[in-house]
Amino acid sequence: MPKRSPLKNKRILVGVTGSVAAYKAVELVRRLKDEEADVRVIMTSASLNFITPLSLELASGTKPFTGLWEEPLAHVNLASWAELFIIAPATANTIGKLANGTADDLLSACFLAWHGSTLIVPAMNSGMYSHQAFRKNLDYLKSIGITEITPESGVLACGTEGIGRMAGIEKIIDAARNLVTPKDFLGQTVLVTAGPTREPLDPVRFISNRSSGKMGFALARAAAARGAKVILVSGPTSLTPPPGIEKIIKVETAGQMKKAVMHEAASSLLLIMAAAPADYTPDEFSPEKIAKSKRYDLKLKATYDILLEVLKLKRRPFTVGFAAETGPLFENALQKLRKKDLDLIIFNDVTKEGAGFDCGTNQVSIIGRDAGREDVPIMEKEDLAHLILDRILALGNWS
Ligand SMILES: Cc1cc2nc3c(=O)[nH]c(=O)nc-3n(C[C@H](O)[C@H](O)[C@H](O)COP(=O)(O)O)c2cc1C
Repeated sequence: MPKRSPLKNKRILVGVTGSVAAYKAVELVRRLKDEEADVRVIMTSASLNFITPLSLELASGTKPFTGLWEEPLAHVNLASWAELFIIAPATANTIGKLANGTADDLLSACFLAWHGSTLIVPAMNSGMYSHQAFRKNLDYLKSIGITEITPESGVLACGTEGIGRMAGIEKIIDAARNLVTPKDFLGQTVLVTAGPTREPLDPVRFISNRSSGKMGFALARAAAARGAKVILVSGPTSLTPPPGIEKIIKVETAGQMKKAVMHEAASSLLLIMAAAPADYTPDEFSPEKIAKSKRYDLKLKATYDILLEVLKLKRRPFTVGFAAETGPLFENALQKLRKKDLDLIIFNDVTKEGAGFDCGTNQVSIIGRDAGREDVPIMEKEDLAHLILDRILALGNWS
């Protein structure tokens, strides 16, 4: 399934400097090309001691620029060509030059001519990284809006242990995606729920459902990337919290999810209920493990309907619900939208291949208050999350 990457067709300039981590730039360029970015590379002369221009030419598809004098005005032309500048690895020396406006090689001259988004990815010995002179330079660059991707700790090339290893490639890709994503939800508080809930029978058993939380996490990640202040209320999942979210509230039961949502909803502009909270919970909780017997009659009672509770709020957020059905039961989704006075409902038929629980893709229909329906083709949940946010923005009556 091809992924819609925000880096697709983006013109990205990669600066490579003279660090032992320079070889990692080859993998970085390859990953940027996987995302269908258009990549050009500048190598400092020190970097040529660590890798050959040929490796980066093969990865990027174009000859790297290696000197200020090899093509007149390359520093200005590359600066006006690029949409994003990534310097990885970035040496202490280059960071010092950038912070002080020195322009004695192609990379530093190009940086001065450039006024767009920049990611710097330092890699060096931990002594260098913590030196006051270096910190001053790095802090200055950050103060003028340049994003640092902090190095990792571990055993360094010099044999010592400490902070200084170049950040992982996927972390750099994530940061690059984030920087080029339009911030059209900037400052808006978005409350997203995700995952299943667990309704305990006794200390060892519970009733749950097959929700993985992937759709809710994708929505939280997409909203955060677009500048929203995201609060994620999540039932138990195995997923890593998306980067850049304001907070994650982990809950177990539908009752706890309701409490968390009610607490946050009043101060949120947008609520997206992608979670699958249990509709029923055991009538009674046994504080001791229920002994095995031939037959056990389970009695259930209905949980609170969170969306109906939200409806009671004086100031309700723009509310988006999800309706998972086992068949093309659009009418059920529309009824749910009306009963709960939702602004939008995302319908999916979980019996369809590639839709619904515990897979990376989804196939949904988006239904509005006017019963208008958009049937969205199957796509990655991450892409669908952005599409849903696009549709919310297009409605224009939520902020
Ligand atoms: C074997 C070796 C490894 C080096 N690794 C690093 C490093 O990881 N980070 C760093 O900041 N400098 C490192 N240096 C020092 C830089 O290569 C040196 O400061 C150089 O002038 C950087 O030039 P540039 O910033 O123009 O690429 C290393 C030097 C040597 C000899």
